[in-house]
Amino acid sequence: MRGFIFDLDGVIVDTAKYHYLAWKKLANDLGIDFTEEENEQLKGVSRVKSLEKILAWGNKTLSDKDFKAQMAKKNKDYLSHIAKMDESEILPDVPRILNLLKKEKQVISLGSASKNARTILERVNLKEQFDAIVDGNDVSKAKPDPEVFLIAAKQLNMKPEHCIVFEDSVAGVEAANIADMVSIGIGSKDVLGHADYVFRDFTEISDEFIKSLIEN
Ligand code: BG6
Ligand code: MG
Repeated sequence: MRGFIFDLDGVIVDTAKYHYLAWKKLANDLGIDFTEEENEQLKGVSRVKSLEKILAWGNKTLSDKDFKAQMAKKNKDYLSHIAKMDESEILPDVPRILNLLKKEKQVISLGSASKNARTILERVNLKEQFDAIVDGNDVSKAKPDPEVFLIAAKQLNMKPEHCIVFEDSVAGVEAANIADMVSIGIGSKDVLGHADYVFRDFTEISDEFIKSLIEN
């Protein structure tokens, strides 16, 4: 038996695009340029760390009060996108993989940096599929720290080396590697070359591959 840990944003649902839109709006309103390349560096990164990075790129500082206000503004904008989500936004073949894992009697956890994770899982009707949910409310250290995945392994009652992580972010793959788990990058090989395996998306992952992970 294995523990399968899924990141949320960019792995189960394409919320990465909503994070991008919300951060871009905030950055531009502050007079800071924000490109897709910069956005790549924010994937998997906590809300606080993301704003710190954007301000550093723009050579700007904010008072504590303004920093908190900007974070609240970003989240409000982000949640306005989330409110319109439904099951159609689950990424291709995610249900096939989740169903296969259930059929094979494997245990499944979420391992996300997001504080909005439970809301999103409810919106897309996937919450019941998970044996454990570990998100941004449960951790004190952000990815690439392995804390989120180690807590997930513990909740699943699995040793880290018996866990497999699906991740779309550079920081998340690094966290899985540090945790001594099998890391599976979902995205481009150019970005996620440090993962044990990389697939463009779940449509490229065969049932046989999943079964081989369970057996080895
Ligand atoms: C990660 C996203 O999953 O969660 C990041 O990849 C995001 O882009 C982080 O900043 C925190 O999410 P939230 O929803 O708590 O702002
Ligand atoms: Mg992600």
